[in-house]
Amino acid sequence: MKIQFSRSTQVRFEAKAYLIFDRAVLTGIPLTDNEATYALKQFEENELVIVNRYSELIFIAFADPLKSEGVFLEQCRKRGNEISGILRKEKISDIDIIIPSANPKTGLALAEGLALGSYQFLKYRSATDKKRWNLEKINLAGSDVSKTEIDLLAILIEAVFMARDLVNEPASHLNALKLAENFESMGKVAGFTTEIFHKDRIEALKMGGLLAVNLGSIDPPTFSVMEWKPADAKNTKPIVLVGKGVVFDTGGLSLKPTKDSMDSMKCDMAGSAVVASVMYFAAKSRLPLHLVALVPSTDNRPDGNAYAPGDVIYMHSGQTVEVLNTDAEGRLILADALSFAKDYHPELVIDVATLTGSAAMAIGQHGIVGMGNAGAQTFQALKQSGENVYERVVEFPLWEEYGESIKSDIADMKNIGAREGGAISAGMFLEKFVDYPWIHLDIAGPAFLTTSDHYRTKGGTASGVRLLIDFLKNMA
Ligand code: BES
Ligand code: MN
Ligand code: ZN
Repeated sequence: MKIQFSRSTQVRFEAKAYLIFDRAVLTGIPLTDNEATYALKQFEENELVIVNRYSELIFIAFADPLKSEGVFLEQCRKRGNEISGILRKEKISDIDIIIPSANPKTGLALAEGLALGSYQFLKYRSATDKKRWNLEKINLAGSDVSKTEIDLLAILIEAVFMARDLVNEPASHLNALKLAENFESMGKVAGFTTEIFHKDRIEALKMGGLLAVNLGSIDPPTFSVMEWKPADAKNTKPIVLVGKGVVFDTGGLSLKPTKDSMDSMKCDMAGSAVVASVMYFAAKSRLPLHLVALVPSTDNRPDGNAYAPGDVIYMHSGQTVEVLNTDAEGRLILADALSFAKDYHPELVIDVATLTGSAAMAIGQHGIVGMGNAGAQTFQALKQSGENVYERVVEFPLWEEYGESIKSDIADMKNIGAREGGAISAGMFLEKFVDYPWIHLDIAGPAFLTTSDHYRTKGGTASGVRLLIDFLKNMA
């Protein structure tokens, strides 16, 4: 699905949305006296009021300017999502958003929430089912917003939808090779390059972590290298993104125990979908930054040759790891990508992964767990982006004491630590493979939802895409 964005100061469609910042003032909204009285009364209890003229649907959305900027804009996105719900019910596909001249950003946020909330994954529905409803056109009317801003919003929505589509794609239709081929197609459209390393190359590179996890699979692994290197890049050393690409995680021989714990494990490549979609945005918007994205990919299964608890493996870095739980596979494949990233002499590396249930247990679905050695300033910038786009980041510590629990009796380290602080020992494991400024983002909590959270629609959310885009835009 693709939403068309346009920019015409004229209103065009039967549905129109206005924003107000004071629930007692409706100036500028073309209402009759009766309608205005009705709307003011509705606003005593509501934040979104609908004036239904049958031939015309007028939405009036309130956002509270006394809140912090981040919360204020998030209110606009949420109102946009509510409007999308009503358009769906009324089967209306086109809408004008009247951008308030006092604060054009709010109009864009409303459009963003409206678009994101209209996402649907219809690929596996029968044709008649597909025709139910689609949001087709959003026209930004009223105060003029720049063409660039609208283009960027349209690309952002596209990038988020691509990430959601990839996460929602079941493993029966998305093995490691297909995932890599998807990146290749995204690159062709947007303008970044993709190189796919197949199993022989992965063996030659001695990526023992990725190869070990892949042993129980009947499909070969892939390692994708995406690059966007514009002539006007502001950075001389690249920024490298790394995404976990486990297309399905059964746990391997340390099989996931209960029925529920495996149900959503097609989402275990969400990190890879995030980094590829960020590359898509960067290339399509010609962001002046040199970026590389690396995705190690396989499924994690317990077939005959599967790696087993007690195994010792040689990693790409040359270090050895004792495997004590085959369900802690994400850190093994990421570690190989992180040590491979050293060759780029990167300015910064950010990995994105559905890495631990522990991160989800600690903070739930409303935030991303971040860790790393990149320094306070970088972290602050990332947290600020988190507030801006409402994909908030909580920093966990990498205190050396947490490293005790990943010491092995027979190898350089083992792949699981204490149950308590499990998100941190996973981070401590990854830290052993980096020698550059690095941030690890554990998106296990927000990556996949079983019920929608406003415009974060159920299924894959693409959480992390908008965060990294905002962060990189600010860097460039
Ligand atoms: N992919 C899972 C983590 C996960 C859990 C993602 C829930 C999304 C939702 C990861 O590979 C995993 O299995 N982690 C284990 C690690 C443990 C064995 C040390 C976990 O968190 O239980
Ligand atoms: Mn696992
Ligand atoms: Zn996993």
